[in-house]
Amino acid sequence: MENNFHGKLLASMVDVGEPRFNAAHEKLFHIVVDADTILGSAATGGRMLTPEEWESLSTVCDELISYAKVHFADEEETLLQRGYPDFVRHRGIHNQLVEDLNQFQKKVTAGNEQDLKEMRRWMLEWLLNHVNHEDYAFAQYFAAQG
Ligand SMILES: [Fe+2]
Ligand SMILES: [Fe+2]
Repeated sequence: MENNFHGKLLASMVDVGEPRFNAAHEKLFHIVVDADTILGSAATGGRMLTPEEWESLSTVCDELISYAKVHFADEEETLLQRGYPDFVRHRGIHNQLVEDLNQFQKKVTAGNEQDLKEMRRWMLEWLLNHVNHEDYAFAQYFAAQG
């Protein structure tokens, strides 16, 4: 469930000019919110995650990684087709993000409690950072091209 804080974050996510991508970004954001909600309920209670919560977080991670891969592939195909000059770098960033998500998932699988705070912060930031800077860059490029 989305709270006020999540709503503000979602509202700060930019329009990249392609409805299909905007929808994918929103869907990814909602998966991130699911993860954050699990991490947040433990943090609020000043406790560690229960085994069931670790399990749910792991499922959410799987979903996030597989959906991120689908969206990245879709976006890359479009950028390539439309001759985006920064394509290679953009694809490299996507690959790094998938790598980072896999690392994140490993921490979840390991149930590493020390990593919780860091995980939570990272979880909320990666998608917005990418969409609002890197995806926004191609949106501006295509908008300028008309
Ligand atoms: Fe992207
Ligand atoms: Fe994107």
